[in-house]
Amino acid sequence: MPISNPKRYTVTAALIYANGPIHIGHLAGCYVPADIYVRYLRSSGKDVAFISGTDEHGVPITIRAKKEGLTPQQVVDKYYEQIDASFKALGISFDIYSRTSKPVHHETSREIFRDLYDKKVFIEETTEQYYDETAQQFLADRYIVGTCPVCANPNAYGDQCERCGSTLSPLELKDPRSTLSGAKPVLKATKNWYLPLDKMQPDIEAYVNGHSEWKTNVFGQCQSWLKDGLKPRAMTRDLDWGIKVPVEDTEGKVLYVWFEAPIGYISATKDWLIQKNGTDEGWKKWWQPAADASEGETKLVHFIGKDNIVFHCIIFPAMLMAEGNYILADNVPANEFMNLEGDKISTSRNWAVWLHEYLEELPDKQDVLRYVLTANAPETKDSEFTWKDFQTRNNSELVGIYGNFINRAVVLTQKFCEGKVPQRGALQEIDQAALKDLAAFPQKIADAMENYRFREALTLIMDLARTGNKYLADTQPWHVIKTDPERVNTILNIALQISATLSIVSEPVLPFTAAKIQEQLGLSGKNWQDAGHADLLTPGQPVLEGKLLFEKIEDHVIEKQIQKLHDAKRLNELEGKTVAPVKSEIQYDDFSKMDIRIATILEAENVPKSKKLLKLRIDIGSEQRTVLSGISEHFKAEDVIGKKVLYLANLAPRKMMGMESHGMILMAEDRDGSLAFVQPGKDVWNGGTVN
Ligand code: MF3
Ligand code: ZN
Repeated sequence: MPISNPKRYTVTAALIYANGPIHIGHLAGCYVPADIYVRYLRSSGKDVAFISGTDEHGVPITIRAKKEGLTPQQVVDKYYEQIDASFKALGISFDIYSRTSKPVHHETSREIFRDLYDKKVFIEETTEQYYDETAQQFLADRYIVGTCPVCANPNAYGDQCERCGSTLSPLELKDPRSTLSGAKPVLKATKNWYLPLDKMQPDIEAYVNGHSEWKTNVFGQCQSWLKDGLKPRAMTRDLDWGIKVPVEDTEGKVLYVWFEAPIGYISATKDWLIQKNGTDEGWKKWWQPAADASEGETKLVHFIGKDNIVFHCIIFPAMLMAEGNYILADNVPANEFMNLEGDKISTSRNWAVWLHEYLEELPDKQDVLRYVLTANAPETKDSEFTWKDFQTRNNSELVGIYGNFINRAVVLTQKFCEGKVPQRGALQEIDQAALKDLAAFPQKIADAMENYRFREALTLIMDLARTGNKYLADTQPWHVIKTDPERVNTILNIALQISATLSIVSEPVLPFTAAKIQEQLGLSGKNWQDAGHADLLTPGQPVLEGKLLFEKIEDHVIEKQIQKLHDAKRLNELEGKTVAPVKSEIQYDDFSKMDIRIATILEAENVPKSKKLLKLRIDIGSEQRTVLSGISEHFKAEDVIGKKVLYLANLAPRKMMGMESHGMILMAEDRDGSLAFVQPGKDVWNGGTVN
């Protein structure tokens, strides 16, 4: 059952692997919604701890280290700094951004493991695992490749085939090889400790089934795991990067990263208190039920992306249940994925908008990104980010609706009311209706926020801005001023009161903008409880003319970003290209059968209806010939006339597009797929042979 009246909130956002920068998919899936929720709670006067940090262990870190030629420690140091800085710059308001490499985390994880170990929760089991004798280490699933038993992909990973999507175990691969040394791995016995999720299933089921209010995608994924039947899962691994197992004689073993990483939320809470107060005293109230009911309940909420659901809804709660002293998550509002320009976001293919680059190239547009990611949040299904949509939402919604309203209210106040909040006079029906509308908005928006429906909250926020625009359009103070300045005072008072509330209720999504508005209006110390009131601003109070809140984004800005995406992907593909392996051996006789000679192109024309072919007339010394050459995507006909080329003269003629092609022009293919003529080093006569 969900907690109905919590005293405080522990809100966590996934501890991302410190093996690469943050992209918009991470933001939309987890960090922006978490920040909106927390800002809303704080504004509502709630006691909140907003906890996150980096996950610095596990195979993903060691793989990245190998790829970048760094040590794992260098990798996590580099990315921790970068991730921490870019989150701050986007206004993600963590109370603590910690790291799982901190001593407090090692201690906390080891204590919890040792506690479960002493309570005999784990099953000790010896199994055979793949071992690389050359590299002298056990191989994590990702370090083994082999042929997929399902689709015969020769490069399937030990845990998954990326071609057919099958989930695999290393033992299922045919012809396994180690990615560390290329050696064929051998099976070797090793002891590990397993969490008996199978035996714990009834308790886990009771917990999950007690939360039918969870989002359908989350609840559904849990049900499907439960239906398949939970299996024991190893909580230790044979690896050398990670937290040492707190048990004697466990050299070369570390805690499973998915055992210790979620404990990172607990250690980060301690880290926060230590940094703040010099001691971790008080951490328990964020994680354990109070001994005394008067201390109230703590509501634990995990924000994550959908690939983390099972770990947060099943495995971590199972660990905490076994420990016995902890509260369990009240909700896990995981999002689906956000795609980018029609394709899945992918770090390995470099198809992403990176946060640190965005912040550099589009400075002062933090709120635009927060807005667009929220408006398109993948709350119930995968969604899509496109730069065109980013531009449209900025130009027609943020500039055209929200910015326009605030700007008009402020500028009209400058013009007609000496830059001070005017006094309201007698109210007409339209004013009363506007104030009534205004009063109702905060609660509607709060309901959406409470239920993790941030898209809906944002729609309502924009509806409030629309209400403001409509009110000004209907009351037309710019006309009325000529006849009835008193009436204009009333209108602008109301418009400014709407602006004040708009700044409060939009602060969770648009914190930078809200701060600017509040500075203009001289509004301070007001929060959610005050929103909707008709007297947030006191008559006589100065209203400052500010800079425009949002600016139009021009086409060229967007085009540059789209081009950049494609360039980055292309560069990445090139970097991944390898030189073709040498073909199987031939004898001199095989070679000498080929008549390769020098020729000159005399004429060239496009072949009608063909995308690829140029029709060439060439002089091969003894005679002229016609060749159809598949190069018209690379060269214009007029540019190839006069070129000396290498020509394979005795290749059997072929018919193409109803024409006969005789022989073949030899071309070199570059890394990026572009073609180049292969030419003699001096002006060799036509018919000169190549031997
Ligand atoms: N490191 C994981 C990822 O990036 C997330 C871990 S969340 C926590 O997908 F539970 F471990 F904290
Ligand atoms: Zn496959």
